[in-house]
Amino acid sequence: MSKQFDVIVIGGGPGGYIAAIRAAQLGFNVACIDEWKNEKGGPAPGGTCTNVGCIPSKALLQSSEHFEHANKHFAEHGITASDVKMDVAKMIARKDAVVKQNNDGILYLFKKNKVSFFHGRGSFVKAAEGGYEIKVAGAAEESITGKQIIIATGSNARALPGTPFDEEFVLSNDGALRVGAVPKKLGLIGSGVIGLEMGSVWRRLGAEVTILEGLPTFLGAVDEQIAKEAKKAFDKQGLKIELGVKVGEIKTGKKGVSIAYTNAKGEAQALEVDKLIVSIGRVPNTIGLNTEAVGLALDERGAIVVDADCKTNLPGVWAVGDVVRGPMLAHKAEEEGVAVAERIAGQHGHVNFNTVPWVIYTSPEIAWVGRTEQQLKADGVKYKAGTFPFLANGRARALGDTTGMVKMLADADTDEILGVHIVGPQASELISEAVVAMEFKASSEDIARICHAHPSLSEATKEAALAVDKRTLNF
Ligand code: FAD
Ligand code: NAI
Repeated sequence: MSKQFDVIVIGGGPGGYIAAIRAAQLGFNVACIDEWKNEKGGPAPGGTCTNVGCIPSKALLQSSEHFEHANKHFAEHGITASDVKMDVAKMIARKDAVVKQNNDGILYLFKKNKVSFFHGRGSFVKAAEGGYEIKVAGAAEESITGKQIIIATGSNARALPGTPFDEEFVLSNDGALRVGAVPKKLGLIGSGVIGLEMGSVWRRLGAEVTILEGLPTFLGAVDEQIAKEAKKAFDKQGLKIELGVKVGEIKTGKKGVSIAYTNAKGEAQALEVDKLIVSIGRVPNTIGLNTEAVGLALDERGAIVVDADCKTNLPGVWAVGDVVRGPMLAHKAEEEGVAVAERIAGQHGHVNFNTVPWVIYTSPEIAWVGRTEQQLKADGVKYKAGTFPFLANGRARALGDTTGMVKMLADADTDEILGVHIVGPQASELISEAVVAMEFKASSEDIARICHAHPSLSEATKEAALAVDKRTLNF
Protein backbone atom coordinates (compact mmCIF):
# COMPACT_ATOMS: atom_id res chain seq x y z
CA MET A 1 0.00 0.00 0.00
CA SER A 2 1.39 3.40 -0.97
CA LYS A 3 2.14 6.07 1.64
CA GLN A 4 -0.82 8.35 2.30
CA PHE A 5 -0.57 12.10 2.81
CA ASP A 6 -3.10 14.85 3.46
CA VAL A 7 -1.20 17.19 1.15
CA ILE A 8 1.37 16.45 -1.56
CA VAL A 9 3.30 19.41 -2.98
CA ILE A 10 4.99 18.86 -6.35
CA GLY A 11 7.92 21.28 -6.70
CA GLY A 12 10.18 22.61 -3.95
CA GLY A 13 10.76 26.20 -5.13
CA PRO A 14 9.50 29.21 -3.15
CA GLY A 15 5.89 28.41 -4.06
CA GLY A 16 6.15 24.73 -3.16
CA TYR A 17 8.40 24.59 -0.11
CA ILE A 18 6.58 27.45 1.58
CA ALA A 19 3.20 25.83 0.85
CA ALA A 20 4.49 22.57 2.35
CA ILE A 21 5.76 24.26 5.52
CA ARG A 22 2.55 26.26 6.01
CA ALA A 23 0.40 23.15 5.46
CA ALA A 24 2.50 21.25 8.02
CA GLN A 25 2.13 24.14 10.50
CA LEU A 26 -1.62 23.80 10.07
CA GLY A 27 -1.45 20.19 11.22
CA PHE A 28 -1.48 18.30 7.91
CA ASN A 29 0.64 15.29 7.06
CA VAL A 30 2.63 16.74 4.14
CA ALA A 31 4.98 15.48 1.42
CA CYS A 32 7.04 17.71 -0.88
CA ILE A 33 8.57 16.29 -4.06
CA ASP A 34 11.39 18.13 -5.83
CA GLU A 35 13.68 16.88 -8.57
CA TRP A 36 16.45 19.51 -8.61
CA LYS A 37 19.92 17.95 -8.28
CA ASN A 38 23.15 19.51 -7.04
CA GLU A 39 26.43 18.73 -8.83
CA LYS A 40 26.79 15.51 -6.80
CA GLY A 41 23.29 14.36 -7.74
CA GLY A 42 21.91 15.12 -4.28
CA PRO A 43 18.78 17.11 -3.52
CA ALA A 44 18.87 20.88 -4.01
CA PRO A 45 15.43 22.19 -3.04
CA GLY A 46 14.60 25.84 -3.54
CA GLY A 47 13.83 25.73 -7.25
CA THR A 48 14.84 28.31 -9.81
CA CYS A 49 14.93 30.99 -7.13
CA THR A 50 17.56 29.30 -4.98
CA ASN A 51 19.57 27.44 -7.62
CA VAL A 52 19.64 29.62 -10.75
CA GLY A 53 17.58 32.70 -9.98
CA CYS A 54 17.07 35.20 -7.19
CA ILE A 55 19.78 34.07 -4.78
CA PRO A 56 22.77 33.34 -7.07
CA SER A 57 22.09 36.42 -9.20
CA LYS A 58 22.09 38.61 -6.10
CA ALA A 59 25.34 36.99 -4.92
CA LEU A 60 27.02 37.89 -8.24
CA LEU A 61 25.49 41.37 -8.21
CA GLN A 62 27.01 41.90 -4.76
CA SER A 63 30.48 40.63 -5.74
CA SER A 64 30.56 42.69 -8.92
CA GLU A 65 29.35 45.77 -7.06
CA HIS A 66 32.20 45.44 -4.54
CA PHE A 67 34.62 45.19 -7.48
CA GLU A 68 33.19 48.31 -9.09
CA HIS A 69 33.32 50.22 -5.81
CA ALA A 70 36.94 49.25 -5.22
CA ASN A 71 37.86 50.32 -8.74
CA LYS A 72 35.80 53.44 -9.15
CA HIS A 73 34.51 54.79 -5.86
CA PHE A 74 36.98 54.00 -3.05
CA ALA A 75 39.23 56.86 -4.19
CA GLU A 76 36.43 59.37 -3.44
CA HIS A 77 36.66 58.23 0.20
CA GLY A 78 40.44 58.64 0.26
CA ILE A 79 41.07 54.91 -0.02
CA THR A 80 43.79 53.76 -2.38
CA ALA A 81 43.15 50.33 -3.79
CA SER A 82 45.59 49.61 -6.54
CA ASP A 83 45.83 46.47 -8.64
CA VAL A 84 42.26 45.37 -7.84
CA LYS A 85 41.66 41.99 -9.46
CA MET A 86 38.62 39.77 -9.81
CA ASP A 87 39.04 36.04 -9.35
CA VAL A 88 35.94 34.87 -11.25
CA ALA A 89 36.32 31.25 -10.12
CA LYS A 90 36.29 32.38 -6.48
CA MET A 91 33.29 34.62 -7.07
CA ILE A 92 31.39 31.69 -8.62
CA ALA A 93 32.47 29.36 -5.79
CA ARG A 94 31.17 31.88 -3.23
CA LYS A 95 27.90 32.09 -5.13
CA ASP A 96 27.65 28.27 -5.13
CA ALA A 97 28.28 28.21 -1.37
CA VAL A 98 25.49 30.76 -0.82
CA VAL A 99 23.16 28.56 -2.91
CA LYS A 100 24.12 25.47 -0.89
CA GLN A 101 23.42 27.26 2.41
CA ASN A 102 19.92 27.96 1.11
CA ASN A 103 19.40 24.35 -0.15
CA ASP A 104 20.49 23.00 3.24
CA GLY A 105 18.33 25.55 5.03
CA ILE A 106 15.23 24.26 3.24
CA LEU A 107 16.06 20.62 4.03
CA TYR A 108 16.44 21.65 7.68
CA LEU A 109 13.08 23.47 7.58
CA PHE A 110 11.41 20.33 6.16
CA LYS A 111 12.77 18.30 9.07
CA LYS A 112 11.81 20.94 11.62
CA ASN A 113 8.24 21.05 10.30
CA LYS A 114 7.99 17.28 9.73
CA VAL A 115 7.47 17.60 5.98
CA SER A 116 8.39 14.31 4.22
CA PHE A 117 10.78 15.19 1.39
CA PHE A 118 11.00 13.07 -1.76
CA HIS A 119 13.86 13.66 -4.20
CA GLY A 120 12.67 12.89 -7.72
CA ARG A 121 10.13 13.75 -10.36
CA GLY A 122 6.50 13.71 -9.35
CA SER A 123 3.83 12.81 -11.89
CA PHE A 124 0.13 12.06 -11.83
CA VAL A 125 -0.82 8.39 -12.10
CA LYS A 126 -4.56 8.57 -11.56
CA ALA A 127 -7.35 9.87 -9.38
CA ALA A 128 -7.42 7.53 -6.40
CA GLU A 129 -10.09 7.14 -3.76
CA GLY A 130 -10.36 10.48 -1.95
CA GLY A 131 -7.39 11.99 -3.78
CA TYR A 132 -4.65 11.31 -6.31
CA GLU A 133 -1.89 8.78 -6.81
CA ILE A 134 1.47 10.39 -7.56
CA LYS A 135 4.53 8.54 -8.84
CA VAL A 136 7.92 9.70 -7.57
CA ALA A 137 10.75 8.78 -9.93
CA GLY A 138 14.09 9.36 -8.25
CA ALA A 139 16.94 7.04 -7.27
CA ALA A 140 14.10 4.59 -6.62
CA GLU A 141 10.52 4.68 -7.82
CA GLU A 142 7.57 4.79 -5.47
CA SER A 143 3.95 5.71 -5.39
CA ILE A 144 2.30 7.98 -2.84
CA THR A 145 -1.26 9.25 -2.53
CA GLY A 146 -2.54 12.61 -1.37
CA LYS A 147 -5.98 14.00 -0.62
CA GLN A 148 -4.91 17.45 -1.80
CA ILE A 149 -2.24 18.21 -4.41
CA ILE A 150 -0.43 21.54 -4.76
CA ILE A 151 1.49 21.94 -8.04
CA ALA A 152 4.41 24.38 -7.91
CA THR A 153 6.57 23.23 -10.81
CA GLY A 154 7.80 26.69 -11.79
CA SER A 155 9.07 27.87 -15.16
CA ASN A 156 11.92 27.46 -17.64
CA ALA A 157 13.83 30.01 -19.73
CA ARG A 158 12.28 30.71 -23.13
CA ALA A 159 14.68 30.04 -26.04
CA LEU A 160 14.67 31.94 -29.32
CA PRO A 161 13.08 29.81 -32.02
CA GLY A 162 15.83 27.85 -33.81
CA THR A 163 18.49 28.79 -31.23
CA PRO A 164 18.49 26.29 -28.37
CA PHE A 165 20.58 26.98 -25.27
CA ASP A 166 23.94 25.19 -25.40
CA GLU A 167 25.01 26.88 -22.10
CA GLU A 168 28.50 27.39 -23.52
CA PHE A 169 27.89 30.16 -26.04
CA VAL A 170 24.12 30.66 -25.99
CA LEU A 171 23.21 30.94 -22.33
CA SER A 172 19.98 30.82 -20.35
CA ASN A 173 19.92 32.21 -16.81
CA ASP A 174 21.57 28.93 -15.76
CA GLY A 175 24.67 29.34 -17.94
CA ALA A 176 24.73 33.10 -17.32
CA LEU A 177 25.37 32.38 -13.64
CA ARG A 178 28.23 29.97 -14.36
CA VAL A 179 30.41 31.90 -16.82
CA GLY A 180 34.00 30.95 -15.95
CA ALA A 181 35.84 34.07 -17.10
CA VAL A 182 34.82 37.62 -17.93
CA PRO A 183 33.85 37.63 -21.61
CA LYS A 184 35.44 40.42 -23.62
CA LYS A 185 32.19 40.99 -25.43
CA LEU A 186 28.83 39.91 -24.07
CA GLY A 187 25.51 40.11 -25.91
CA LEU A 188 22.09 39.84 -24.33
CA ILE A 189 18.73 39.56 -26.01
CA GLY A 190 15.96 41.19 -24.00
CA SER A 191 16.43 44.21 -21.73
CA GLY A 192 14.01 42.92 -19.09
CA VAL A 193 14.88 42.04 -15.53
CA ILE A 194 17.45 39.31 -16.25
CA GLY A 195 19.02 41.26 -19.13
CA LEU A 196 19.63 44.28 -16.90
CA GLU A 197 20.79 42.36 -13.82
CA MET A 198 23.12 39.95 -15.66
CA GLY A 199 24.28 42.66 -18.05
CA SER A 200 25.23 44.77 -15.01
CA VAL A 201 27.20 41.93 -13.38
CA TRP A 202 29.43 41.31 -16.39
CA ARG A 203 29.76 45.01 -17.35
CA ARG A 204 31.03 45.80 -13.83
CA LEU A 205 33.61 43.04 -14.24
CA GLY A 206 34.88 44.52 -17.48
CA ALA A 207 32.85 43.00 -20.32
CA GLU A 208 31.68 45.18 -23.20
CA VAL A 209 27.94 44.57 -22.95
CA THR A 210 25.30 45.08 -25.65
CA ILE A 211 21.63 44.39 -24.97
CA LEU A 212 19.27 44.01 -27.92
CA GLU A 213 15.63 44.72 -27.06
CA GLY A 214 12.70 44.09 -29.38
CA LEU A 215 10.37 46.73 -27.98
CA PRO A 216 10.81 50.42 -28.83
CA THR A 217 10.35 51.48 -25.20
CA PHE A 218 12.72 50.75 -22.34
CA LEU A 219 11.13 48.86 -19.39
CA GLY A 220 7.58 49.40 -20.61
CA ALA A 221 6.00 48.11 -17.38
CA VAL A 222 7.92 50.63 -15.26
CA ASP A 223 6.73 54.21 -14.61
CA GLU A 224 8.02 56.20 -17.61
CA GLN A 225 9.78 58.87 -15.53
CA ILE A 226 11.55 56.21 -13.47
CA ALA A 227 12.51 54.14 -16.55
CA LYS A 228 13.94 57.28 -18.20
CA GLU A 229 16.03 58.08 -15.13
CA ALA A 230 17.29 54.47 -14.96
CA LYS A 231 18.17 54.45 -18.66
CA LYS A 232 20.21 57.65 -18.21
CA ALA A 233 22.20 55.94 -15.42
CA PHE A 234 22.78 52.74 -17.45
CA ASP A 235 23.91 54.79 -20.49
CA LYS A 236 26.39 56.63 -18.28
CA GLN A 237 27.74 53.32 -16.98
CA GLY A 238 28.36 52.13 -20.54
CA LEU A 239 25.65 49.47 -20.66
CA LYS A 240 24.74 49.61 -24.34
CA ILE A 241 21.00 49.05 -24.85
CA GLU A 242 19.57 49.07 -28.38
CA LEU A 243 15.80 49.35 -28.48
CA GLY A 244 13.37 48.41 -31.27
CA VAL A 245 15.60 45.77 -32.86
CA LYS A 246 14.52 42.69 -34.77
CA VAL A 247 16.81 39.75 -34.13
CA GLY A 248 17.57 37.63 -37.20
CA GLU A 249 19.93 34.70 -37.73
CA ILE A 250 22.16 33.62 -34.86
CA LYS A 251 25.29 31.61 -35.69
CA THR A 252 27.45 29.89 -33.12
CA GLY A 253 31.08 29.22 -34.01
CA LYS A 254 34.08 27.85 -32.11
CA LYS A 255 34.94 31.24 -30.66
CA GLY A 256 31.63 32.95 -30.17
CA VAL A 257 28.28 34.00 -31.51
CA SER A 258 27.26 36.30 -34.33
CA ILE A 259 23.83 37.88 -34.26
CA ALA A 260 22.25 39.47 -37.31
CA TYR A 261 19.60 42.07 -36.53
CA THR A 262 17.91 45.15 -37.87
CA ASN A 263 18.01 48.27 -35.73
CA ALA A 264 15.15 50.66 -34.99
CA LYS A 265 15.82 52.47 -38.29
CA GLY A 266 15.48 49.20 -40.18
CA GLU A 267 19.22 49.00 -41.00
CA ALA A 268 20.89 45.59 -41.12
CA GLN A 269 23.45 45.12 -38.33
CA ALA A 270 25.71 42.38 -37.01
CA LEU A 271 26.92 41.85 -33.46
CA GLU A 272 29.86 39.54 -32.68
CA VAL A 273 30.16 38.42 -29.08
CA ASP A 274 31.99 35.79 -27.03
CA LYS A 275 28.82 34.79 -25.19
CA LEU A 276 25.14 35.47 -25.71
CA ILE A 277 22.57 35.47 -22.90
CA VAL A 278 18.99 35.05 -24.10
CA SER A 279 16.62 36.59 -21.55
CA ILE A 280 13.30 36.98 -23.35
CA GLY A 281 10.97 35.72 -20.64
CA ARG A 282 10.09 32.34 -19.16
CA VAL A 283 7.57 29.60 -19.89
CA PRO A 284 5.48 27.69 -17.33
CA ASN A 285 6.83 24.20 -16.64
CA THR A 286 4.57 21.14 -16.62
CA ILE A 287 7.07 18.79 -18.31
CA GLY A 288 6.79 15.26 -16.95
CA LEU A 289 3.77 15.97 -14.71
CA ASN A 290 1.60 13.70 -16.86
CA THR A 291 -1.30 16.15 -16.65
CA GLU A 292 -3.20 14.15 -19.31
CA ALA A 293 -3.63 11.22 -16.90
CA VAL A 294 -6.03 13.28 -14.80
CA GLY A 295 -7.22 15.88 -17.35
CA LEU A 296 -5.60 18.93 -15.74
CA ALA A 297 -6.44 22.01 -17.85
CA LEU A 298 -3.60 24.13 -19.31
CA ASP A 299 -3.98 27.40 -21.22
CA GLU A 300 -2.44 28.26 -24.62
CA ARG A 301 0.83 29.36 -22.94
CA GLY A 302 1.10 26.02 -21.17
CA ALA A 303 0.25 27.54 -17.77
CA ILE A 304 -2.04 25.60 -15.44
CA VAL A 305 -5.47 27.24 -15.47
CA VAL A 306 -6.46 28.43 -11.99
CA ASP A 307 -9.12 30.70 -10.53
CA ALA A 308 -8.43 33.61 -8.18
CA ASP A 309 -7.98 31.10 -5.32
CA CYS A 310 -5.41 28.96 -7.24
CA LYS A 311 -7.93 26.13 -7.71
CA THR A 312 -7.47 24.14 -10.92
CA ASN A 313 -10.26 22.43 -12.89
CA LEU A 314 -9.77 19.29 -10.73
CA PRO A 315 -11.20 18.99 -7.22
CA GLY A 316 -8.44 18.98 -4.60
CA VAL A 317 -5.73 20.08 -7.08
CA TRP A 318 -4.22 23.55 -6.68
CA ALA A 319 -1.38 25.34 -8.50
CA VAL A 320 0.81 28.29 -7.46
CA GLY A 321 3.79 30.35 -8.59
CA ASP A 322 5.38 30.62 -12.02
CA VAL A 323 3.34 27.72 -13.41
CA VAL A 324 0.14 29.82 -13.19
CA ARG A 325 -0.91 33.31 -14.33
CA GLY A 326 0.47 36.48 -12.78
CA PRO A 327 3.95 37.90 -12.26
CA MET A 328 6.81 35.39 -12.13
CA LEU A 329 8.19 36.46 -8.77
CA ALA A 330 9.36 34.40 -5.81
CA HIS A 331 7.38 36.38 -3.25
CA LYS A 332 4.19 36.08 -5.34
CA ALA A 333 4.75 32.29 -5.44
CA GLU A 334 5.26 32.21 -1.66
CA GLU A 335 2.14 34.24 -0.94
CA GLU A 336 0.07 31.92 -3.13
CA GLY A 337 1.61 28.87 -1.42
CA VAL A 338 0.63 30.16 2.03
CA ALA A 339 -2.86 31.16 0.87
CA VAL A 340 -3.54 27.71 -0.67
CA ALA A 341 -2.38 25.86 2.46
CA GLU A 342 -4.70 28.06 4.53
CA ARG A 343 -7.63 27.52 2.14
CA ILE A 344 -7.11 23.74 2.40
CA ALA A 345 -7.40 24.19 6.17
CA GLY A 346 -10.69 26.04 5.70
CA GLN A 347 -9.16 29.43 6.40
CA HIS A 348 -9.38 32.56 4.24
CA GLY A 349 -5.96 32.76 2.57
CA HIS A 350 -5.58 35.93 0.54
CA VAL A 351 -3.12 37.40 -1.97
CA ASN A 352 -3.40 41.08 -2.87
CA PHE A 353 -2.04 41.37 -6.41
CA ASN A 354 -2.27 45.19 -6.21
CA THR A 355 0.47 45.30 -3.61
CA VAL A 356 3.00 42.82 -5.00
CA PRO A 357 6.27 44.78 -5.19
CA TRP A 358 8.74 44.52 -8.07
CA VAL A 359 12.47 45.08 -7.73
CA ILE A 360 15.25 45.19 -10.31
CA TYR A 361 18.56 44.79 -8.48
CA THR A 362 20.72 46.93 -10.75
CA SER A 363 22.59 50.00 -9.64
CA PRO A 364 20.62 52.17 -9.25
CA GLU A 365 17.97 49.74 -8.03
CA ILE A 366 14.47 50.09 -9.43
CA ALA A 367 11.45 49.19 -7.27
CA TRP A 368 7.77 49.84 -7.45
CA VAL A 369 4.36 48.89 -6.14
CA GLY A 370 0.93 49.81 -7.43
CA ARG A 371 0.04 51.64 -10.60
CA THR A 372 2.33 53.74 -12.79
CA GLU A 373 1.47 57.26 -13.96
CA GLN A 374 0.78 55.95 -17.47
CA GLN A 375 -1.59 53.29 -16.07
CA LEU A 376 -3.50 55.87 -14.02
CA LYS A 377 -3.88 58.04 -17.13
CA ALA A 378 -5.09 55.04 -19.15
CA ASP A 379 -7.56 54.16 -16.37
CA GLY A 380 -8.85 57.74 -16.28
CA VAL A 381 -7.99 58.13 -12.58
CA LYS A 382 -7.42 61.67 -11.29
CA TYR A 383 -4.17 61.67 -9.31
CA LYS A 384 -1.54 63.88 -7.70
CA ALA A 385 2.18 63.14 -8.08
CA GLY A 386 5.07 64.00 -5.79
CA THR A 387 8.75 63.32 -6.47
CA PHE A 388 11.85 63.79 -4.36
CA PRO A 389 15.41 63.38 -5.69
CA PHE A 390 18.07 61.49 -3.72
CA LEU A 391 20.36 64.41 -4.58
CA ALA A 392 18.57 66.35 -1.83
CA ASN A 393 18.80 63.51 0.74
CA GLY A 394 21.62 63.79 3.29
CA ARG A 395 22.12 60.04 3.73
CA ALA A 396 22.37 59.52 -0.05
CA ARG A 397 25.02 62.25 -0.20
CA ALA A 398 26.95 60.61 2.65
CA LEU A 399 26.72 57.27 0.84
CA GLY A 400 27.97 58.91 -2.35
CA ASP A 401 24.96 57.61 -4.27
CA THR A 402 22.54 60.36 -5.21
CA THR A 403 21.11 58.94 -8.45
CA GLY A 404 17.36 58.78 -8.81
CA MET A 405 14.22 59.67 -6.91
CA VAL A 406 11.17 58.50 -5.02
CA LYS A 407 7.86 59.18 -6.76
CA MET A 408 4.47 58.89 -5.08
CA LEU A 409 1.11 58.86 -6.81
CA ALA A 410 -2.05 59.51 -4.80
CA ASP A 411 -5.75 59.78 -5.60
CA ALA A 412 -6.64 63.43 -6.32
CA ASP A 413 -9.80 63.26 -4.22
CA THR A 414 -9.13 60.79 -1.39
CA ASP A 415 -5.30 61.11 -1.23
CA GLU A 416 -5.02 57.27 -1.04
CA ILE A 417 -1.60 56.13 -2.28
CA LEU A 418 -2.01 54.44 -5.67
CA GLY A 419 1.61 53.76 -6.55
CA VAL A 420 5.16 54.33 -5.36
CA HIS A 421 8.10 54.18 -7.77
CA ILE A 422 11.73 54.36 -6.78
CA VAL A 423 14.98 54.45 -8.70
CA GLY A 424 18.02 54.84 -6.52
CA PRO A 425 20.07 53.38 -3.66
CA GLN A 426 18.41 50.62 -1.57
CA ALA A 427 15.13 50.92 -3.50
CA SER A 428 14.61 47.20 -2.75
CA GLU A 429 14.41 47.93 0.97
CA LEU A 430 12.64 51.29 0.71
CA ILE A 431 9.72 49.83 -1.23
CA SER A 432 8.52 47.86 1.82
CA GLU A 433 7.24 51.01 3.50
CA ALA A 434 5.16 51.75 0.42
CA VAL A 435 3.78 48.19 0.36
CA VAL A 436 2.75 48.44 4.01
CA ALA A 437 1.21 51.85 3.40
CA MET A 438 -0.80 50.59 0.44
CA GLU A 439 -1.94 47.45 2.29
CA PHE A 440 -3.30 49.70 5.03
CA LYS A 441 -4.81 52.02 2.40
CA ALA A 442 -2.73 54.92 3.71
CA SER A 443 -2.93 58.42 2.27
CA SER A 444 0.12 60.38 1.20
CA GLU A 445 -0.57 62.61 4.20
CA ASP A 446 -0.20 59.58 6.52
CA ILE A 447 3.36 59.02 5.26
CA ALA A 448 4.08 62.76 5.37
CA ARG A 449 3.09 62.85 9.06
CA ILE A 450 5.11 59.79 10.14
CA CYS A 451 8.48 60.39 11.84
CA HIS A 452 11.30 58.91 9.69
CA ALA A 453 14.80 58.43 11.10
CA HIS A 454 17.44 60.99 10.15
CA PRO A 455 19.61 60.67 8.23
CA SER A 456 18.04 57.86 6.23
CA LEU A 457 17.12 57.16 2.63
CA SER A 458 13.53 56.62 3.82
CA GLU A 459 13.28 60.37 4.39
CA ALA A 460 13.08 60.61 0.59
CA THR A 461 9.81 58.64 0.76
CA LYS A 462 8.44 61.04 3.37
CA GLU A 463 9.54 63.99 1.23
CA ALA A 464 7.90 62.47 -1.86
CA ALA A 465 4.70 62.26 0.20
CA LEU A 466 5.11 65.91 1.16
CA ALA A 467 5.72 66.69 -2.51
CA VAL A 468 2.26 65.28 -3.35
CA ASP A 469 0.95 68.26 -1.38
CA LYS A 470 3.65 70.55 -2.84
CA ARG A 471 5.32 71.15 0.52
CA THR A 472 8.71 69.45 0.52
CA LEU A 473 10.97 70.67 3.31
CA ASN A 474 14.38 69.83 1.86
CA PHE A 475 13.98 70.60 -1.85
P1 FAD B 1 10.54 27.34 -9.17
O1 FAD B 1 11.37 28.17 -8.30
O2 FAD B 1 10.90 27.27 -10.61
O3 FAD B 1 10.54 25.88 -8.54
C1 FAD B 1 9.96 24.79 -9.16
C2 FAD B 1 10.61 23.53 -8.65
O4 FAD B 1 9.84 22.43 -9.05
C3 FAD B 1 12.02 23.28 -9.18
O5 FAD B 1 12.87 22.91 -8.14
C4 FAD B 1 11.83 22.12 -10.16
O6 FAD B 1 12.97 21.29 -10.25
C5 FAD B 1 10.69 21.39 -9.50
N1 FAD B 1 9.89 20.54 -10.40
C6 FAD B 1 9.36 20.86 -11.59
N2 FAD B 1 8.63 19.82 -12.07
C7 FAD B 1 8.73 18.84 -11.15
C8 FAD B 1 8.18 17.53 -11.06
N3 FAD B 1 7.37 17.05 -11.99
N4 FAD B 1 8.51 16.80 -9.97
C9 FAD B 1 9.30 17.27 -8.98
N5 FAD B 1 9.83 18.50 -9.02
C10 FAD B 1 9.54 19.28 -10.08
N6 FAD B 1 12.05 36.56 -8.40
C11 FAD B 1 12.04 37.45 -7.40
O7 FAD B 1 11.00 37.63 -6.75
N7 FAD B 1 13.17 38.16 -7.07
C12 FAD B 1 14.33 38.01 -7.74
O8 FAD B 1 15.32 38.65 -7.42
C13 FAD B 1 14.37 37.08 -8.81
N8 FAD B 1 15.50 36.89 -9.51
C14 FAD B 1 15.52 35.98 -10.53
C15 FAD B 1 16.69 35.83 -11.26
C16 FAD B 1 16.73 34.94 -12.30
C17 FAD B 1 18.01 34.78 -13.09
C18 FAD B 1 15.59 34.15 -12.61
C19 FAD B 1 15.62 33.14 -13.72
C20 FAD B 1 14.41 34.30 -11.89
C21 FAD B 1 14.37 35.23 -10.85
N9 FAD B 1 13.20 35.43 -10.12
C22 FAD B 1 13.18 36.36 -9.11
C23 FAD B 1 11.97 34.67 -10.38
C24 FAD B 1 11.82 33.53 -9.37
O9 FAD B 1 12.98 32.70 -9.43
C25 FAD B 1 10.57 32.71 -9.67
O10 FAD B 1 9.46 33.56 -9.75
C26 FAD B 1 10.34 31.68 -8.58
O11 FAD B 1 11.44 30.80 -8.47
C27 FAD B 1 9.07 30.87 -8.86
O12 FAD B 1 8.89 29.94 -7.84
P2 FAD B 1 8.11 28.57 -8.09
O13 FAD B 1 8.10 27.89 -6.78
O14 FAD B 1 6.84 28.85 -8.77
O15 FAD B 1 8.99 27.76 -9.13
P1 NAI C 1 11.32 39.82 -18.96
O1 NAI C 1 9.93 39.55 -19.32
O2 NAI C 1 11.62 40.62 -17.74
O3 NAI C 1 12.05 40.55 -20.17
C1 NAI C 1 12.11 40.01 -21.43
C2 NAI C 1 12.47 41.11 -22.42
O4 NAI C 1 12.80 40.50 -23.65
C3 NAI C 1 11.31 42.07 -22.68
O5 NAI C 1 11.77 43.40 -22.57
C4 NAI C 1 10.87 41.71 -24.08
O6 NAI C 1 10.34 42.80 -24.80
C5 NAI C 1 12.18 41.22 -24.69
N1 NAI C 1 12.02 40.30 -25.82
C6 NAI C 1 11.16 39.26 -25.91
N2 NAI C 1 11.34 38.61 -27.09
C7 NAI C 1 12.34 39.26 -27.74
C8 NAI C 1 13.00 39.06 -28.98
N3 NAI C 1 12.68 38.06 -29.79
N4 NAI C 1 13.98 39.91 -29.33
C9 NAI C 1 14.35 40.93 -28.51
N5 NAI C 1 13.76 41.18 -27.33
C10 NAI C 1 12.78 40.34 -26.93
O7 NAI C 1 12.02 38.38 -18.90
P2 NAI C 1 13.44 37.90 -18.34
O8 NAI C 1 14.38 39.03 -18.18
O9 NAI C 1 13.79 36.74 -19.17
O10 NAI C 1 13.07 37.41 -16.90
C11 NAI C 1 12.05 36.44 -16.74
C12 NAI C 1 11.28 36.69 -15.50
O11 NAI C 1 12.03 36.27 -14.36
C13 NAI C 1 10.99 38.16 -15.21
O12 NAI C 1 9.86 38.62 -15.92
C14 NAI C 1 10.71 38.12 -13.75
O13 NAI C 1 9.40 37.68 -13.55
C15 NAI C 1 11.69 37.08 -13.26
N6 NAI C 1 12.88 37.75 -12.74
C16 NAI C 1 12.74 38.57 -11.65
C17 NAI C 1 13.81 39.23 -11.15
C18 NAI C 1 13.60 40.16 -10.02
O14 NAI C 1 12.54 40.13 -9.42
N7 NAI C 1 14.58 40.99 -9.67
C19 NAI C 1 15.16 39.06 -11.68
C20 NAI C 1 15.19 38.21 -12.85
C21 NAI C 1 14.08 37.56 -13.32
